[in-house]
Amino acid sequence: MVSLSRRTLLKSAAGLGGAYGLGLGAASLFGGPASAENAVHLEARLTDALLDGQHLTRGVMSYGMAGSPDTAMPPTLRLRRGAPFNARITNRLDEPTTIHWHGLRIDNRMDGVPFLTQPYVYTGDTFDYSFTPPDAGTFWYHPHCNTLTQMGRGMTGLLIVEDPKDPVFDAEIALNLRDWRLGGDGQFIEQFKPRDAARNGTFGTVRGANWQLEPAFDAPSGGLVRVRIADTDVTRLYQLTLSGAQALIVALDGQPLPTPLALETSVIGPGQRLDLVLRMPESEGEVVTLTDTRPSTAKTVATFRSVGANRKRSLGDVPPLAENPFEKPDLASAEEIPLVLSATAENAARDSICGTLGYSFWAINKVPWPGDVPDPSAPLAEMKRGKSYVFNLINNTPHLHPIHLHGMNFQVVSSSARPVSPLISDTYLVAPDEKVQLALVADNPGDWVLHCHIIEHQKTGMTSYVRVV
Ligand code: C2O
Ligand code: CU
Repeated sequence: MVSLSRRTLLKSAAGLGGAYGLGLGAASLFGGPASAENAVHLEARLTDALLDGQHLTRGVMSYGMAGSPDTAMPPTLRLRRGAPFNARITNRLDEPTTIHWHGLRIDNRMDGVPFLTQPYVYTGDTFDYSFTPPDAGTFWYHPHCNTLTQMGRGMTGLLIVEDPKDPVFDAEIALNLRDWRLGGDGQFIEQFKPRDAARNGTFGTVRGANWQLEPAFDAPSGGLVRVRIADTDVTRLYQLTLSGAQALIVALDGQPLPTPLALETSVIGPGQRLDLVLRMPESEGEVVTLTDTRPSTAKTVATFRSVGANRKRSLGDVPPLAENPFEKPDLASAEEIPLVLSATAENAARDSICGTLGYSFWAINKVPWPGDVPDPSAPLAEMKRGKSYVFNLINNTPHLHPIHLHGMNFQVVSSSARPVSPLISDTYLVAPDEKVQLALVADNPGDWVLHCHIIEHQKTGMTSYVRVV
């Protein structure tokens, strides 16, 4: 599990005695060019931030680049498909943490789940993550320890994997959508109410994007803009719609659509991503509005204003994005694995150094997950590497659940609730009473958690894992 920090890279470069000058960067030893984006040193830290537009909120938790005094949103990391990436995390919080790279199909030891894949990173300690992203697209990163508090207080960052074959747009905007649970004085209030945790989850009181209220962006008139949207909130689903411009959905959950779809409204749950290409109005000063229409009163999420000379582009110019590799499951030979979501009255919550909410409200296959403990329940299934499987997911609850699988992607093959397109994803938003089949080839060895990404559900029982051997 040895990985190389940026410092090690620089040191070995020095040791090579000017190899840089010959165009042999240190990282050529590891197969990729040396550049800042290939190696980052992040710090998990406490900070103060202006989140409600009026008060400085104390006790905000974020990631910042080590050595920089940033007090802002966690940096949007940019990686390249197929290029090795190293991230060192130093924990400057006063509690343990880890990083999970949501949606990335990487080595199990880099997955960031305490006990299952790695030890905690204690205060003052460091952990080196090192992996090569196999897929291009929009992903994100967050802790997998005391998750409701750490994510609720700020630790959700975007991660973009670029593909050299990606089409070039006139502008690109990344939106990190999330709420804050603040009181009238701008300070954090209790992160959850048990009553709500047993229903749809506890909602934030201040709604934002990129740690701002209704951020406004400028984009070239008549230009094509790629908008990468991630729902990193602990609870909220978004029903997004655009006014003032036409847009295409080009990718969902990081995975390109074979044919871009016109955007009408699109619902994404916590953990999910939506990539749009919008075509800006031609005359300067016109404003396009991205709105969340899920609550009864529509809410502006962000606005885009056209500036400069008309680029005269058209949505018809948008090619599909390059495909990511995905091994097609063999449905004829696939073994079926039941995955039944339900409420539970049985309390299995156990104390954990990674935080417990103290309740069990939910279960998968009748087993409520006890929390991050050294001896969790047995895996939901043992899967053989290279074999095809189908999860028969049934939602026996009256709530929506964004179910997320670590380490592997699945294909949605059938649903009792809606027509399915051959969607490849890591997170499926299952509706009340819906039965859905998610198929995959078990191609990544290790223990992989799967859980609801409404964090209160995750932390009160709706978590399990599969083992690929
Ligand atoms: Cu984004 Cu286990 O989660
Ligand atoms: Cu849920």
